Amino acid sequence: MSAIEALLRRMSLAEKIGQLTMSAADQAVTGPVIAQGLASDVRSGAVGSVLNLHGSERVRAMQRLAVEESRLRIPLFFGLDVIHGFRTLFPVPLAEVAAFDPELWEATAREAACEAAREGVDMTFAPMLDVSRDPRWGRTVEGPGEDPVVGSALARAKVRGFQQADRAQDANLASPAALAAVAKHFCAYGPVQAGREYASVDISERTVREVHLPSFAAAVRSGVVAVMPAFTDLAGIPMTAHREMLCGWLRQQLGFGGVIVSDYNAIGELIAHGVAGERSGAAALALAAGVDIDMMSDAYRYGLPVALARGEASEAQIDAAVLRVLSLKEKLGLFDDPYRRCQGAEPAPTLARRRALARRAATHSLVLLTHRGDVLPLQPGSRLAVIGPLADAAAEMGGSWAAAAEHHASVSVLAGLQSALGAPAVTYAPGVAITGANTSGIVTALQACEGADVIVLCLGEAAAMSGEAASRAIPQLPGCQRELAQAVLARAAELGSPVVTILFSGRPLVVPWLFEQADAVLAAWFPGSEAGAAIADVLTGKTAPSGRTPISWPRSVGQIPIFHAQRPGGRPYAANNHYTSQYMDVPNDPQFPFGHGLTYAHFELSNLRVTPAQCAEDGSIEVRIDVRNAGACTARETVFLFVHDRLASIARPVLELKAWQQVELNAGEQASLQLSLPACELRFLGADLRPCYEPGEVQLYVGPSADRTRLLSTLVHLI
Ligand code: NOJ
Repeated sequence: MSAIEALLRRMSLAEKIGQLTMSAADQAVTGPVIAQGLASDVRSGAVGSVLNLHGSERVRAMQRLAVEESRLRIPLFFGLDVIHGFRTLFPVPLAEVAAFDPELWEATAREAACEAAREGVDMTFAPMLDVSRDPRWGRTVEGPGEDPVVGSALARAKVRGFQQADRAQDANLASPAALAAVAKHFCAYGPVQAGREYASVDISERTVREVHLPSFAAAVRSGVVAVMPAFTDLAGIPMTAHREMLCGWLRQQLGFGGVIVSDYNAIGELIAHGVAGERSGAAALALAAGVDIDMMSDAYRYGLPVALARGEASEAQIDAAVLRVLSLKEKLGLFDDPYRRCQGAEPAPTLARRRALARRAATHSLVLLTHRGDVLPLQPGSRLAVIGPLADAAAEMGGSWAAAAEHHASVSVLAGLQSALGAPAVTYAPGVAITGANTSGIVTALQACEGADVIVLCLGEAAAMSGEAASRAIPQLPGCQRELAQAVLARAAELGSPVVTILFSGRPLVVPWLFEQADAVLAAWFPGSEAGAAIADVLTGKTAPSGRTPISWPRSVGQIPIFHAQRPGGRPYAANNHYTSQYMDVPNDPQFPFGHGLTYAHFELSNLRVTPAQCAEDGSIEVRIDVRNAGACTARETVFLFVHDRLASIARPVLELKAWQQVELNAGEQASLQLSLPACELRFLGADLRPCYEPGEVQLYVGPSADRTRLLSTLVHLI
């Protein structure tokens, strides 16, 4: 018998249920309820894990209650949303995804884990893997964007990073620098109806499997030790009670043996969903579905004893869940040393190195959406007018999940540009606030534009306008920012000064007029602690922009959902045929397609070749393409490989992403890139939803984005 099985034998029912109960402290408010009496619950063994407590001294004090004053001395573990950093903030996930650099994604997760673990955190409720094709949905900011292949790559990188995996792929969870990762929100939370947070989800099983499950499968295969079900229901079955998906797909089919931790109060919310009448019923449903830990609803604590007495739950189910929780604590090394993650402050060089990584990550996350003329990079000695409510907004730069960061510690755009160009070269006026109706500051903003060589207009959302509970039906510029922008653009035209807009948002914004009128627009998302420094690096040309949008930008809210992997339909759009798929008032194509992003150089792609021309299911297709930097500066190019199976038993998307590669080239330099595509990845789900491989021709496309007019293409023959 193992040590944890022996421990289980000594536990009372209340102590067992305690291990399945997670309670919140009050250091971050991430839900409606704040636990009272946490210390006494820990002493009595009524709580087995704690969220929202951090800081080595505080965590030590709470842990001491568990390991010295509770009857069985079982250590607690401490969970927190370390989503894109702990104290040092990296770009918000959607932004970091725009870097299309899995090594970077892994590196920032490793650093975030190190930093949080020093202050007592054992588990992060990340990575968030929900594919989103609807920018109205606020949580789009937390995830991988619109593509499941990107989601899967993100899952691998983040799980490896947070769990400090070694080269051999294995998590190194006992490391004092490792966090247990939680893949969330399982699954298909992104397609909430009409983009409205927490709304119902009702999509086909095919879409669930093709689009929403791959990133979770990748997380499990990368050794993720925990999964969190989504708040939402899938065609009427709340994910927190979804036996088929949790027990069937996740545990049985995929072999996931880790812990399933509910979302905040989600077990209790089974009552509001209308599938449980009271707490005991909710607890029985969640336990039967395989949910091990009840985060903050107390349904297990008060409901399971009742369910047990009524025969709606069994002690065997409880024991299995407790063993999974104890086994996680064992893997985290907490039985050996419950204070192993409470090592406190780190040396200054470590912090400086981390800030440097944050700056690099932020720089690579910026996406140059439009650029007319040669306004960028800025000429040395340029005088700037920095205008707008996001210009001097250090507190907004961190984005939606700031964990333990101190907001003012981020570098604002103003501070970044002042430090890069010298304070006398920069004038500043906010013009208007992010929200609200006061336009009285616009006059001063227009005056500030006079004498400037370039106007840098900093517009967008507040950080809290995306993330959880932050859906927007009209994802445009809030408040009076359009009024400010149009006044500035008009004045700039009179003055002959170009306007560069830095757009902050947790989602694509629908601002076609701005893209038309500004000389350049840089999507900054929320870049994190080093925001202003990274933006200055890109504006001054110290680093050429290289980010690519991981989500299509709509021209109009009416186009949503819009994404590159749509099916052709029977009447695909044809310009000369009215009776084809189109709108009468807006073009079909997005404002910016998936993968779009400009730079200061100019790349030429040529000589697409594929070997072998015929490939069997167990073979691999090697795709090569030449890339030449025909511009005048060093820059990084990202090349995407898409496929289209034009004739198959199931209609396939017009573009399916399969791989991408990046290369950094000096001016005039050329490289040959190779992308490998195992033929088995051209399998798709047949009519019976089982993977099938169909011989025949498949079109391969290679290019800089999902803009089909810019893709090179060739055929491969599957045999
Ligand atoms: C609710 C959110 O949905 C989830 O993502 C988060 O991890 C928990 N709250 C805990 O803060």
